[in-house]
Amino acid sequence: MVLSLTDACLFAAFCGLFVHACFNRFEDDHFPSLKAVSLVIPLLPASLFYPHSRSVFLSVLAGYMICFVTLFSSIVLYRLSPFHPLAKYPGPALAKLSKLWGLYKTSTGKTHLLYLELHRQYGPIVRTGPNEMSICDIGVLEPALGNNGMPKGPMWKGRINAQTGSTSLVSERNMRVHLERRKPWNKGLSSSSVREYEPILRNRVLQLVESLQEKSAGNHFVDLVEWISMFSYDFMGDMAFGGLGFELMRDGDVNGLWGLMEHGIRIQAHTQHVPWATTFLHSITGMGAAAAKLRSFVHSAAQKRARRGRGPFGPDLSSWLLDEANPTPDPRQFKSYARESQLIIVAGSDTTAAVISSIFHHILGEQKYFERLRREVDSYFPLDGGEVPADNSTKLSDMPFLNAVINEAMRITPPVPIDLQRGPERGSGGKMIGSIFIPEGTGVNIPPYVFHRDPRYFSPHPDQFLPDRWLPDTTGLYHTLPEAYIPFSLGPMNCPGKGLALLELRMVVATLVQQLDMELQSGYDTTSWETKLDCYFVFTRGTIPVKVKLRVH
Ligand code: HEM
Repeated sequence: MVLSLTDACLFAAFCGLFVHACFNRFEDDHFPSLKAVSLVIPLLPASLFYPHSRSVFLSVLAGYMICFVTLFSSIVLYRLSPFHPLAKYPGPALAKLSKLWGLYKTSTGKTHLLYLELHRQYGPIVRTGPNEMSICDIGVLEPALGNNGMPKGPMWKGRINAQTGSTSLVSERNMRVHLERRKPWNKGLSSSSVREYEPILRNRVLQLVESLQEKSAGNHFVDLVEWISMFSYDFMGDMAFGGLGFELMRDGDVNGLWGLMEHGIRIQAHTQHVPWATTFLHSITGMGAAAAKLRSFVHSAAQKRARRGRGPFGPDLSSWLLDEANPTPDPRQFKSYARESQLIIVAGSDTTAAVISSIFHHILGEQKYFERLRREVDSYFPLDGGEVPADNSTKLSDMPFLNAVINEAMRITPPVPIDLQRGPERGSGGKMIGSIFIPEGTGVNIPPYVFHRDPRYFSPHPDQFLPDRWLPDTTGLYHTLPEAYIPFSLGPMNCPGKGLALLELRMVVATLVQQLDMELQSGYDTTSWETKLDCYFVFTRGTIPVKVKLRVH
C-alpha cells in the first residue's frame, strides 16, 4: 500500500511525537535505549517516502527531518505550555526550555549569584530547568531533606564515574542502598572516632604553621589559600590512607593531584546538567584521561593502605570503610572501599579549605575581628602557657567568638552553595513536600547560599560578615534563625563529616591565630575575594598573599 505524501508526512510527525512521549516517560532510567529508539523510529516513515521520491537518501532525510522537527517543536511547546507539571512556577524562559541554559550559566562560575538573583526576582520557588526547581523556604527543609524526605535528585546521574558507571556514596540515588552504604561512614565519622583522629590532625596543623613560617622567611609573601588547600589534601590523604598521604606541603604537588581534582570538579559541575552528554563531554575535555589518572593514583594508594593496615597514628577512616574491626572482613569490601576512598579526599578537602580561606579573608581584611579572635584564643591558650590550641579540642568547642566566626564564614560562603538536590523516588508518581507537589522526574535544589542571604532568616545585612549575629544578643539587633542555616545540609544524607570538619576548622584557625602574626600584601584588594569565588558545586577561590612571622613569646 502506498500512502499519500500528506499521510506519510503526518505519520513522520506522529513518530516524532511518539519519541517525545517515550523520552518523557523513560528518560530518567533508560536514556541509552531511548537514544537508539530516536535513531531507529524515523526509518519507519522514511520507507513511506520512497515511492514518492525513488531516492533512498531523500526518503531517509525526509523521515528524519520531519520526525526531529516535530520532536523538537513538541518538546519546546510542551515545556513552555500550561500543561507542563511545573508550568505554574516562574523562572527564565530559557531555563524552562533546556538544561543547556544551566550548562552555559555554570561555565561562568557564577551560579551562586544567579540563584540569589533569581530568588530575589521570582520569590521562594523558581523553575531553573525544564524539570528542575530551586526552593528557598524553610518549610520545605525537613520534608525534602529529612528522614521522610526524597532521595538524591537526577543531577547525580551526571556526576557518576563516566568510565566505570560506578557510584560513590554521595551519588547513590537508591535510598535503601544509600542508607546501607552510609553505615561505615557514620561509624568512621562518629564523635568517638573523630576523637581518635586528633593526633593525625594535630600533626598536620603544626606542619602547616612551620611551613608557612619557613616559606615566609626573608620577608616573602605566601599564598595562604594555596597552603591551606595543600594542608587539607595532606590531612584528608592521611585520613584516607593512614599516613600514606600526599605530602603536598613537604614536596609540592609532584603528582599533579590538585590539578586533577580541580579539573574533575569543574567538569562534573557541567555534566550534572546534561547526564546524557557526560561521556561526550569527558572525551572532548580530556577529562576521561584525567579521571583515569586520578582513579589509578587513588586506587594504588588504597591498595597500599589496605595491604599495610592502619598507620602510625592508629585508626583512620579507612579502618571503618575496610571493616578492619571485623576478624573476617568481607573480601568484596575492598571494591567498595576503593570507590569511596576518592570521595574522602574530594568531599573533605576543598570544603574545609574553602571555609578556612574565607575566615582568613574576613579576619585579615577587618583587623578588629583578628584582634578580637586573638584575645579570645590567648585567654583560652595563653601563649606563654605552652599549650597550642591543636592540643585541646574540648576547649576549642567552648570558644564563643571562634565558633561565631566559623558559623558566619559558612553562612556567607557555604562551601556547597546551590546543589543540595533531591527528587521523588522513581515509581512513586511524585511527592508532597510541605504544600508543594513535586512530580516524579523533577530535581529540587535547596540552595544554602540563597537561604543564608535571605533577610527573612538572617538580618540585618545578610550580605555582610557579622559574626556577632551568632552571639547572645541583648540589644535585639540581630535576627538569626539557626533552622535556616544548612552548610552541612540535614537529614539522613547530610554531611557525615560535620564533626571532623568543625574540629579541623577550630584547630587550624585558633592555632594559626595564636602562633603567627600575619600581614596582607600591601595593595591586595580585599574586595576581589567575592568576585573571584567561582561555584563549581563547591567554591574555587582566588588568592590571599600574606607574610607570616612566628609570634614572639
Ligand atoms: C566545612 C566542611 C564541610 C562542609 C560545609 C560539607 C558539606 C557537605 C554537604 C552540603 C554535603 C551534601 C549533603 C546533601 O546532599 O544533602 C556533604 C556531603 C558529604 N560530605 Fe561533607 N562537608 C564538609 C566536610 C566534610 C568532611 C571533612 C568529610 C569527611 C570525609 C565529608 C564527607 C562527606 C560525605 C562522605 C558526603 C556524602 C554524604 C552522603 O551522600 O550521604 N565532608 N558535605
